[in-house]
Amino acid sequence: MPMLGVGTFDHADYDTCYENVQQALDVGYRHIDTTEQVEAYYNEEAVGDAVAASSVDRESLFVATKVPPADLDQSGVRRSAEESLDRLGMEYVDLLYVHWPTGKYDPVETFDAFAALREEGLIEEIGVSNFTVDLLKEAIDVADAPIFANQVEMHPLLPQEDLREFCSRDDVDVELVVYSPIARGDVEHVTELQEVARKHGATPEQVSLAWLREKNVTAIPRATTEDHLRENWLSLALELDDEDMAKLDAIKERERVVNRDDAPWN
Ligand SMILES: NC(=O)c1ccc[n+]([C@@H]2O[C@H](COP(=O)([O-])OP(=O)(O)OC[C@H]3O[C@@H](n4cnc5c(N)ncnc54)[C@H](OP(=O)(O)O)[C@@H]3O)[C@@H](O)[C@H]2O)c1
Repeated sequence: MPMLGVGTFDHADYDTCYENVQQALDVGYRHIDTTEQVEAYYNEEAVGDAVAASSVDRESLFVATKVPPADLDQSGVRRSAEESLDRLGMEYVDLLYVHWPTGKYDPVETFDAFAALREEGLIEEIGVSNFTVDLLKEAIDVADAPIFANQVEMHPLLPQEDLREFCSRDDVDVELVVYSPIARGDVEHVTELQEVARKHGATPEQVSLAWLREKNVTAIPRATTEDHLRENWLSLALELDDEDMAKLDAIKERERVVNRDDAPWN
């Protein structure tokens, strides 16, 4: 799984998402995070069409999508996954996530259905999203197939120490994939990020992405402009030193940009 991907949620329409994915592939991104169809967002169709029109081989891409809470029962998982593949125009996805552990989520039933899709080759890996340590422990206990990744919010204002420590244990070994990795732009206003950015001739957003890479997690920033896509890609060349990491780790301010009443941490 490439450690820097691109998020595609919340584009205004099909055309902007299509163009954004084309630009991302041109810049060099090979990990695309998309999501089930929510209301009028047609991002899976746009992602699939942009990939099909590009010269990038499907095998060199890592494509992830999700199953919504309302479809987490046995038949819903299958229907949702098949509809996603249909919209993407792909034979498989590299990673399929449980989007939120709510709604019809039932650990045994949900992961049985995911395991069946994996057996059939419709998905390569099973993921979860917005899982706490306790929910992840339960998932690992009941699932027959391995849980490959947990997608959660993380940035220097929400360092997710407990989850990181748990996921990196040898007997757990779950990848963290990070959404809202630049706190939707809010990292720009944090003094410590500004200072480290100035030192390296970089931007606070690039510093946040480099900090995540130092923490061994995968980030999927969303960027609708080509300049932002490139700027985020160039964070791969930014090396933070121990002094930078210590300064960023010492940030006391906390912020969570994605929250909802039924989130498991509330
Ligand atoms: N699993 C989940 O429950 C969940 C929840 C939320 C998000 N996600 C996924 O995570 C992806 C990313 O998260 P996100 O969209 O919440 O937050 P994000 O990536 O932290 O922030 C996106 C915002 O930051 C701006 N931006 C991007 N690069 C920038 C740069 N270099 N300098 C300044 N501003 C920059 C973008 O503006 P422009 O558009 O103008 O470039 C956009 O407004 C989503 O697309 C989605 O795929 C998953």
